Amino acid sequence: MRLMIRHLLSLIRSRRRTSCLFIISSCLSITFILFIINHDQQAENIPNKIVPREDKQPKLSNNLTAFIQKTIPIQRKGTWPIDEKGRSLKTNFLVLDWTGFFGSGANEGEVIQCPSSNTTFTWTHQQSRIDEVDFIVSHDGQGSGGIPFDRLHLNNDQQQYTMAFVIESEVHSLTGDAWARFNFKMTYNLDDSYPEPATYFDINTFIIDLLTPSSISFENKEQQADIVWIISNCNAHNGREGFVERLMQEIKVDSYGSCLNNRRGYGARMTDNIDAYKKYKFVIAIENSNCVDYVTEKLVKAVESGSIPIVAGLNNHPDYRRYMPEHSYINIFNYSSIKDLANDLKRIGNNKTLYESYLWYKKHNKDISKLKELSLNDKLKYLADIIGSNATMIINGIAGKEKSENKICKLIRFVRQTPWQDIATHKSTGRVGSDTACLPRKSILTHFNSKHT
Ligand SMILES: *[C@@H]1O[C@H](CO)[C@@H](O)[C@H](O)[C@H]1NC(C)=O
Ligand SMILES: *[C@@H]1O[C@H](CO)[C@@H](O)[C@H](O)[C@H]1NC(C)=O
Ligand SMILES: *[C@@H]1O[C@H](CO)[C@@H](O)[C@H](O)[C@H]1NC(C)=O
Ligand SMILES: *[C@@H]1O[C@H](CO)[C@@H](O)[C@H](O)[C@H]1NC(C)=O
Ligand SMILES: *[C@@H]1O[C@H](CO)[C@@H](O)[C@H](O)[C@H]1NC(C)=O
Repeated sequence: MRLMIRHLLSLIRSRRRTSCLFIISSCLSITFILFIINHDQQAENIPNKIVPREDKQPKLSNNLTAFIQKTIPIQRKGTWPIDEKGRSLKTNFLVLDWTGFFGSGANEGEVIQCPSSNTTFTWTHQQSRIDEVDFIVSHDGQGSGGIPFDRLHLNNDQQQYTMAFVIESEVHSLTGDAWARFNFKMTYNLDDSYPEPATYFDINTFIIDLLTPSSISFENKEQQADIVWIISNCNAHNGREGFVERLMQEIKVDSYGSCLNNRRGYGARMTDNIDAYKKYKFVIAIENSNCVDYVTEKLVKAVESGSIPIVAGLNNHPDYRRYMPEHSYINIFNYSSIKDLANDLKRIGNNKTLYESYLWYKKHNKDISKLKELSLNDKLKYLADIIGSNATMIINGIAGKEKSENKICKLIRFVRQTPWQDIATHKSTGRVGSDTACLPRKSILTHFNSKHT
């Protein structure tokens, strides 16, 4: 993920100049168009209704109008059917990808099915179709300055919504009031997102991975070292590399990534990671920053491998109980020194009974071969049956809040269940900054330095 994001970021950077120009010129032309439309509407009293394009032959006041109309025609195609409560009855939605995702845009015209609402939606990146779209989607809240929010409609005749999403931590993405301009805010924050979060988890798979016994037994684990780490970003906000460097002085850690590399054999591809992870007793799954609910594919992959994750969470930054059963991971913040941590890892790694106690939730006599075919709700019941009262935190956390479907399908399901008036009056809030959402820079090192090592 990091790797992909870095590539994409450099792509964006190289495009920044052109996209700036583009945004500025879009702003200018949109402002101008707004002026023209106003003018036209006053002059002709065009109702705020759907006007089929062929019927709409505006009397052109000047040549510039003609030019603009030709370039960005006003298209109020289709209708926006709602029920008596104001809930959308649409079955095909048009979604405008305003920014692209790290520079990669949606495939123009691609149609996506939404099984949870029996609907479809179609992607477009043509900003000129602004008047006919149902959703405008902005990655990372970017483009909030360029989206003509005032031109959008949210009334009985037409419902157009805006959504901003991001899955990078507050340290590496935009925060602040720009987010409050959007109807919908989707981040990995399980409580702050509206209507639902967008996370790294496919819950259907995650539940199965949690409950599946490890494929490699304690005896057959790697002999050379108990711990594996595969990371390429060696300049993490929380200082994890400094921590691992010191851990390596106390206990053997095999590092296959480019950060603190000491072993070769696996590339940086995810499938390789899983192959490596499962051979080890412990997988270091510490994120690049410690922020509320910021838990990524690092944990997902560790769980998929069936090894015990080593994580870092302090005062809900993040709270791993929302993601994992109790006694199923090692939290480094639970130790006052790196030596204590290393000694505990040695103790657990050398004692099969103790080691396997951390995988207790994989030991059950339920047949999980049919789990794949069950609905998400039934999977959640299975999970609760197997891990008992320890499931509450997860079910109130990631498992209950992430519905594992396309982000846009989440929105469609929501607008078909929720009156537009409720959405219009929902108080959108900005996104808190990294100083609130995250622990300070180098917090892992600070933790261990403040104690004695
Ligand atoms: C529009 O421009 C053309 C030349 O491009 C000119 O002949 C015509 O008179 C103009 N029309 C108006 C309404 O200004
Ligand atoms: C979708 O349509 C099918 C077939 O008409 C129906 O059985 C199913 O319940 C519908 N699902 C939803 C979520 O409306
Ligand atoms: C920390 O570790 C100790 C001993 O391993 C354990 O008893 C305790 O519950 C842990 N606390 C937390 C918050 O994980
Ligand atoms: C291994 O761990 C188990 C469970 O914690 C404990 O009862 C047992 O005494 C340990 N064995 C050794 C040799 O330390
Ligand atoms: C919950 O986890 C604890 C270990 O932290 C374990 O002792 C307990 O049996 C678990 N509860 C259930 C219902 O499985």
